[in-house]
Amino acid sequence: MSKKVLVLPGDGIGPEIVEQAVRVLDQVNSQFNLGIEHESALLGGAAYDETGSPLPDVTLEKAKASDAILLGAVGGPKWDGLDMSVRPEKGLLGMRSNLELFSNLRPAILYPQLADASSLKPEIVAGLDILIVRELTGGIYFGQPRGIRTLENGEREGFNTYVYSESEIRRIARSAFDAARQRNKRVCSIDKSNVLEVTVLWKEIMEEVAKEYPDVELSHMLVDNAAMQLVRAPKQFDVMVTGNMFGDILSDAAAMLTGSIGMLPSASLNEKGQGMYEPCHGSAPDIAGKGIANPLATILSVAMMLRYSLGEKDAANAIEKAVSDVLDQGLRTADIASEGSKTVSTSQMGDAVLAALKA
Ligand code: IPM
Ligand code: MG
Repeated sequence: MSKKVLVLPGDGIGPEIVEQAVRVLDQVNSQFNLGIEHESALLGGAAYDETGSPLPDVTLEKAKASDAILLGAVGGPKWDGLDMSVRPEKGLLGMRSNLELFSNLRPAILYPQLADASSLKPEIVAGLDILIVRELTGGIYFGQPRGIRTLENGEREGFNTYVYSESEIRRIARSAFDAARQRNKRVCSIDKSNVLEVTVLWKEIMEEVAKEYPDVELSHMLVDNAAMQLVRAPKQFDVMVTGNMFGDILSDAAAMLTGSIGMLPSASLNEKGQGMYEPCHGSAPDIAGKGIANPLATILSVAMMLRYSLGEKDAANAIEKAVSDVLDQGLRTADIASEGSKTVSTSQMGDAVLAALKA
């Protein structure tokens, strides 16, 4: 039976980087005889411009019927003035919640070839390999009530609700512990339990689930300290598990340790193993259309998709090896360029990965 992939290029640099990633997908598809079919749909600002909605019904229907989704990025200043309910980001959040993609895996791996590109000293980041497991469909991002209201004295007040149920905490805990079993068997759960009750419960449930995984070591850290430790001594971490908003923030910090957020893929999975795969970076409107964006995070997202949702480990490994090969060749897009490297465009980087795959 053929496997179906839905491609959502999105906004900003999304279409350019996705174009290269799809070339790579097509290449492994024929090289490894995978029988993958793909089609595209609209999401984000591009969807709003065409249809008035950042998440059109047809996109959602196609997403539900597919085995995996490859996404570029959404958003940009063009849509900043829109009402919250139709902003491009709502399209992305709607995909996550409608498909119940609660488990967001964000690896931060430093390619040895890029040690110079990190803003931290090489000895602090050399060999870095962290996995951030971020809860993606709950917490303050989705909590009700939310809004902006006017008080009796006429002053306005903005409010959101930070809420997690036991079952939501339990399932993300299991994702983290399962992932740790495939790695170095250590989970650090990040909370703010000195202030926020919701994370007191978080911590308690983490302890409870840890009993099912006696082979995995669980530790806890407050989020402010975790932010500091990430830039002080990041190699102390194996798997970090945290809620939606802390995970959003910490994963950007972790990404930068690796030199460029342009290198990092991510997977967002539901209980059925269906997943949405996207680069960790955003739509970078400032460089959109210039042909200089780094397509490697999206190409590596294709590898994650093959591994986690499509069960094609060999093809995934081949893509990851091809990316490592082009870095060995000294090829760099502008964001990861360093002395002595050869700066290439978005499509030239795609060409190089294809050539490495065929070699
Ligand atoms: C991310 C992004 C999104 C988020 C935005 C675009 C809504 O920052 O995937 O990390 O906050 O989750
Ligand atoms: Mg983010």
